Amino acid sequence: MNITLESIESRRSVRSFTGTPLSDDQREALETALEQSGPCPFGSVPRFRIVESGSHAAMASGRIGTYGIIGNAPCFIVGAVKSTPYGFVDFGYALEGIALWAVGAGLGTCWLGGTFDRSGVARSMNLSPDEVIPAIMPIGEPAERRTLIDATMRVLAGSRNRKPWSELFFDNQFDVPLVDAGPWARVLEAVRSGPSASNKQPWRIVRTGSAGKLAFHLFLHEDRSYNNAIKGIRIQELDIGIAMRHLEAAALALGLPGKWERLETPPVAYMEPLRYFSSWIM
Ligand SMILES: Cc1cc2nc3c(=O)[nH]c(=O)nc-3n(C[C@H](O)[C@H](O)[C@H](O)COP(=O)(O)O)c2cc1C
Repeated sequence: MNITLESIESRRSVRSFTGTPLSDDQREALETALEQSGPCPFGSVPRFRIVESGSHAAMASGRIGTYGIIGNAPCFIVGAVKSTPYGFVDFGYALEGIALWAVGAGLGTCWLGGTFDRSGVARSMNLSPDEVIPAIMPIGEPAERRTLIDATMRVLAGSRNRKPWSELFFDNQFDVPLVDAGPWARVLEAVRSGPSASNKQPWRIVRTGSAGKLAFHLFLHEDRSYNNAIKGIRIQELDIGIAMRHLEAAALALGLPGKWERLETPPVAYMEPLRYFSSWIM
């Protein structure tokens, strides 16, 4: 999947749409993007479906309810994944790939992990007993003006704010902020600008090694009660998958080397509520 740095840098959550249906070409391109959203770093295979807002599937499932937060979306991407230890991370990685593809195609999206009616949507996916729907995503042409509820959501989540570098990125150990990341600064900035549930920005990265043999170790600064607030869903692990996609796509776009590998023991001391997930290794 070809994702540009411009797409990563200009992405914002879009909650207000024009309502114009996707053209046949757009729909076909979206279907291809859904197919190409993997392979996922931990090997899960999420499945995705496009559900038109006024369609039979949407009706049969009691319409896709978003409590009025999403205005005029022509359709939604609904996805399911097996609830395994890393299923949510993989789902985040895959669906964020689609969100970033959408920017390049002139389409807007918004992750919805909380504000939608899960039971209604589940009926449209014929879930197997071990599958869950971690989130859904409206997709369509962005409206020029935000609806009032959209603007309010952005203010409530403080969507424009990002934590300073010193709270997110570290040099060899967690108490030393990373000051000079060289060419990797734009890659880390791509993680920082990414979306996260309630804009909590729970990703933390520690750089180790030296030039030519660097590693970036990715941790979740977990808010346990928040991460377990929705039964069966670990919403902050989606954020980790999103961060993995942003880091990987930005490195690829800049021609920087590396790949994801989960180390048995990361070479960094850490304590709860930090949880280690994976390392970008050269
Ligand atoms: C996993 C996840 C779940 C989210 N769930 C919701 C949601 O239920 N409702 C909503 O309005 N926004 C939701 N968001 C969007 C965030 O509020 C948004 O990404 C954040 O405020 C940063 O704003 P930005 O995406 O415009 O940069 C979610 C984002 C993520 C990553």
